[in-house]
This record gives sequence, structure tokens and C-alpha cells, in this order.
Amino acid sequence: MKKQIVLLPGDGIGTEVIHSAKEVLKVIAEEFNHTFEFETHDIGGSAVDLHGTPLPQATVDACKKADAVLLGAVGGPKWDQLPSHLRPERGLLGIRKELDLFANLRPVKSFKNLLHASPLKESVVSGSDLLIVRELTGGLYFGTPSERVNGGEAVVDTLAYTRKEIERIVDKGFQAAQTRRGHLTSVDKANVLESSKMWREVVEEKKAQYPDVKVEHVLVDAAAMKLITNPSQFDVIVTENLFGDILSDEASVLTGSLGMLPSASLREDGVGLYEPVHGSAPDIAGKGIANPVAMILSTALMLRYSFQMEKEASLIEEAVQAVLDSGYQTADLQIPNGRKVGTVEMTHRIIDYIVTQNASKCIMGCYA
Ligand code: IPM
Ligand code: MG
Repeated sequence: MKKQIVLLPGDGIGTEVIHSAKEVLKVIAEEFNHTFEFETHDIGGSAVDLHGTPLPQATVDACKKADAVLLGAVGGPKWDQLPSHLRPERGLLGIRKELDLFANLRPVKSFKNLLHASPLKESVVSGSDLLIVRELTGGLYFGTPSERVNGGEAVVDTLAYTRKEIERIVDKGFQAAQTRRGHLTSVDKANVLESSKMWREVVEEKKAQYPDVKVEHVLVDAAAMKLITNPSQFDVIVTENLFGDILSDEASVLTGSLGMLPSASLREDGVGLYEPVHGSAPDIAGKGIANPVAMILSTALMLRYSFQMEKEASLIEEAVQAVLDSGYQTADLQIPNGRKVGTVEMTHRIIDYIVTQNASKCIMGCYA
């Protein structure tokens, strides 16, 4: 298969982890006979420095033509004082909106030799395996007006959703639950917000179309509490943009390292942008110690969701698991008796596993 992939390294450690993703993809292409064509473009603070905007038109145009986009990270203290339209985050929000990436999938799964590093007791976090399906192009992030009013003495942000916008993300939530353990938790604030009342209505209407999924409604404050008291009760959580932003950060620390978590942002037709949940980590940028795993796992999600390459995606995930099980780890991890390696060695260990494992599968496949 031939695919066009746009790489958006962005800022901080983004450059290093995108490099790892590209290395892994080159090997996957060789092993499985695919052609991946790469184009690199600017976004975030580095785009502000080079082009005076966090989202240059050339980046938007290239992403619109691509089959999928991989993004490293955006942001850093260097750009914190800029006016809001020039902040690196604007680049990220802009590309999500331009590509209509309304469905953000954030899987959170614990790795067994990292459980002890979780802020929660091992007994509480053990067995957690959940997926947050966050609405990504509506709600408070994009509602207008969003401005200072009354001569700067008051301020307004707008939480707006169309029924259609709610329906399409709720469908994604149900569909995700169907492919997992069949349990959907819809998170809202229906005891206060009108938008949440419509959200709950839509979930109730959709239920009949997915009889194999068990649905539960949970208020967002209670959901935040349940996530840390009993995270393993969740399978799929579907929620609006801001609630999903907050809950996904909360969920991301359950596993003991933010450096492990991938995400996918999808459009209806499967085109997607894939990025680690972690940020640009400016304090360690350029030191060669960043954890490339979240980026590499995001690459696996790209292969699965945008290219339907399930075998390739699973092999990458298996490789990451195997390398961690052997005790290799980057500076952010605390595997007992593990061996610390840098970004490049971690990536090469994962690649080595892919190559040897794929070769042995081929031999078994050929002579079986
Ligand atoms: C995320 C981030 C972004 C968001 C920021 C960087 C704009 O927190 O992807 O969760 O709020 O969506
Ligand atoms: Mg966030």
C-alpha cells in the first residue's frame, strides 16, 4: 500500500520523537511491502519563529492532501507571552478544526512493570484499560463569542453544540464500545448545563441502535472521582471537548507514565492526526532522553485506524511491550532493575524486535 504521511514535529521533544516514529515506519514499510512517503511541515512555536504564525497555510494544505498526519508536540515557555492568536496551541487547535478531526481517542492502559509508579495503589489501578472518546472540534474551545466585553470588565466564552455534532461523537463512542468490552459511560453535567441535557438525550436516542452496548450516564464531577477510586470500572468514556480534556489528563497519570500514551484524532472518513498525549517537555528537549513510546504507539494507531494495517499496528504494540518487559526504559520510567536507555536506543530496541519477530513469523508462515 502507498500512503502519504505528513510529519509535524512541532516544538521541544517533538522533533526527537517524530524521528523515532519515522524510523519505525521505514522498517514497517520494508517488512510489509508498503510505500510511505513523508513530508515534514512546521507547526506551533517553531512555525511562529519561522513564519510568524503557529499554523502556516502550507502546513494546512499539505495535511489536507495527506492520508494521515503525525504530530510531535507544540508549546514551550519561549512562546508563553505571545498574544493568544500566536500561541503554539493555536496551531494544534487550528489543524484539528481545519481537518474536521472531531473524534479524539485516548486509550489508557496500564503496563504491568510500571504499576508501582502510579500515584494510586497498585491494587486500585491494576487491570485498568479504558478509552476516552473526546469531542474535539466543538464546545467551549470553539464557541463564539469568546472575548472580553464591557470595556474589559467582563468576559464571555460560549459552549455551543449542534445535535449533529453530538450525534457523530456519540456514535463513535458506541462503536468503540462494541469493539471492546461493550460498556459505554457518557459523561456530562446534565444537572446544570443545557448542552449536557441535549447530550444525554442523544445518548438515550442512540441506545436502541446499539443493543449490545450497556450505557451509563455519569456526571463529570463524579466521573473525575471514580477515575481515581475505581478506574477499572471504565471501558469507553464518551464526553464533550473540555470535560474530555480534563478527564484524559487525569486518566493519563494512572498508568505511571505520561510518556506511554498515544492518541488519535479522526475525521468521519478515517483521515487522522496522531500524537502523543504528553507535551513538548522543553526541559529535556535536545538531550536525547525523551521517551519515544507514546509517539511510536500513536504511529501504531495511525496504521490501524487510517490505513487498516492491523497486523503492522499489533506488531508495533507487541514490540513496545516486549522491550519494556525486558527492562529497557527511558529516564521518565521507573522499572525496577531496568536499564536506562536514550531515545535512539529505545527506538532501535523496538525496531529490532519488529524485524526479528516478523522474520520468524514469515518463516513459520512459509514452512507451516
Ligand atoms: C490536549 C491539549 C490541548 C487541548 C491544548 C494544548 C490546546 O491539552 O490535546 O489535550 O486542550 O486540547
Ligand atoms: Mg489536554
